[in-house]
Amino acid sequence: MVVLISGNGSNLQAIIDATESGRIPGSVVGVISNRPDVFGLERANEHNIHAQVIDHKNYETREQYDQVLASSIAALNPDVVVLAGFMRILTADFVEQFEGKLINIHPSLLPKYQGLNTHQRALDAGDEEHGCSVHFVNEQLDGGPVILQAKVPVFGDDDADSLADRVHVQEHLIYPLVVKWLCEKRLRLQSDGVYLDNSLL
Ligand code: GRF
Repeated sequence: MVVLISGNGSNLQAIIDATESGRIPGSVVGVISNRPDVFGLERANEHNIHAQVIDHKNYETREQYDQVLASSIAALNPDVVVLAGFMRILTADFVEQFEGKLINIHPSLLPKYQGLNTHQRALDAGDEEHGCSVHFVNEQLDGGPVILQAKVPVFGDDDADSLADRVHVQEHLIYPLVVKWLCEKRLRLQSDGVYLDNSLL
């Protein structure tokens, strides 16, 4: 798989750990960041994984950027493309090229709170539960078919940081699990939604 990041890369780390322990029958063949100097790139280097920066600031249009990004991914020939905190909106052409093998993790119980600042929005709304969602990516921002979600409780003394920490623990459990299913070819995107062969669960 190829993993796209923009920052810390804790989800990348969870996936690398799951490949190295054999829980995921696959390997990360490349990590691409749209930002230089982020910690996720160090994580890749530490595990001898090909790491590359394609800085969006060097491209005039989203289309140009996405074309270069798509060719760099295609050169690595992955079966799965994992968005792990990749803070970019992708063009429809990009999404189409990788449709069915492109997944994202979003820190909310989709369809609630698409977009940014999800933890604060859940607090402001007085929600009693919050969580994260792994979904196939389509051309709608955070709008593709949901594969798996995890819920956490919201406590009275939570702030956005404490809530984010609780959600992160769940992200690191469910994202490697979905990647495992994809690598095992037990999960796929169909015209009528998500198909999961759960006979072995
Ligand atoms: C996660 O909260 C994820 O849900 C969101 O971006 C964050 C990335 O965190 N898409 P990390 O870089 O994996 O630590």
